[in-house]
Amino acid sequence: MQLSKAIEVSNLTKIYKARKKTGDVLALDDFSLSVDTGQIFGLLGPNGAGKTTFVKILLGITNATVGGGAILGQPISNYTVRSRIGYLPENHKYPPYLNAEELLIYFAKLCSYDNGKLNQRIDELLAMVKMARWKKVKIKKYSKGMMQRLGLALSLINEPDIVFLDEPTDGVDPIGRKEIRDILIDLKNRGKTIFVNSHLLSEVELISDRVAILHHGKLVRDGSVDELTTAKELYEIEVLGEPDEALFNTGSTVSLVSHKDTKYTVKLDSVENLNELVDSLRNNGILIKSINPKKQSLEELFINTIKDKDDQKL
Ligand SMILES: Nc1ncnc2c1ncn2[C@@H]1O[C@H](COP(=O)(O)OP(=O)(O)O)[C@@H](O)[C@H]1O
Ligand SMILES: [Mg+2]
Repeated sequence: MQLSKAIEVSNLTKIYKARKKTGDVLALDDFSLSVDTGQIFGLLGPNGAGKTTFVKILLGITNATVGGGAILGQPISNYTVRSRIGYLPENHKYPPYLNAEELLIYFAKLCSYDNGKLNQRIDELLAMVKMARWKKVKIKKYSKGMMQRLGLALSLINEPDIVFLDEPTDGVDPIGRKEIRDILIDLKNRGKTIFVNSHLLSEVELISDRVAILHHGKLVRDGSVDELTTAKELYEIEVLGEPDEALFNTGSTVSLVSHKDTKYTVKLDSVENLNELVDSLRNNGILIKSINPKKQSLEELFINTIKDKDDQKL
């Protein structure tokens, strides 16, 4: 099946002009990205990487200095497409004196959403984010997790095709995070495209189809979570017994990274090296039970990628 593009941007550059002599900030540096419809896409990067800037450009909240793109097949300058977009901003603030229902009505009016069944829609959304009980309670009583769940409901009020969630689980406890993840998976199953900005990698890893890593405004990696977390050069070899570690350090091309019980993890450069190691182990009478390419967590990948980039600059 040919997937259509939900987001397509090319060569975006954003420079925030300094008001005083503190210097301009290059927030996005020749950044290109495309996102398929119907996916959960995670844009990852440390604080200050440019994630929020990217979303703000897509939504027309700020302008790119150079470059442009399309969202749901329309140029980002075409504001009519925004009626099909939902947005949960980072660090949002809602009037503390309103309750959940009042706030949802307010947002529905802001985006001229009223299909005659607004009350029903509000009840559905509050049930979805497990906030039904809090419908008539003022926002000032809400915890951080409840604020985020309410924000999620607000971002969906206009029945968008794509939602942008900027750090949706920041400051939320583990159970609240799991609830938010479940909601996002449910939304995806209903055909929505979900774009998540996050510096919380372990969560994004659990739900994203694809991710991109942004660092100092530049795209440093992108791909499916599976592609990115399979460390090509690491293999875990399980054998019978517990042979001498020296057998796994065969010259300069293969080195033992770790050894636990009958499992030996080796780092090597190529499949040829792997087969040479297998030959050598077999010649030494060792019985191999399994060989598996080792996965690294997204967090390990992220830290290694960013460290490499920073090292290159030194
Ligand atoms: N309105 C602004 N004016 C000047 N600099 C900004 C503004 N917004 C963001 N920046 C700077 O741009 C860079 C990227 O910020 P941001 O997009 O918020 O990153 P992230 O969301 O990844 O944390 C940072 O260096 C930040 O300080
Ligand atoms: Mg941000």
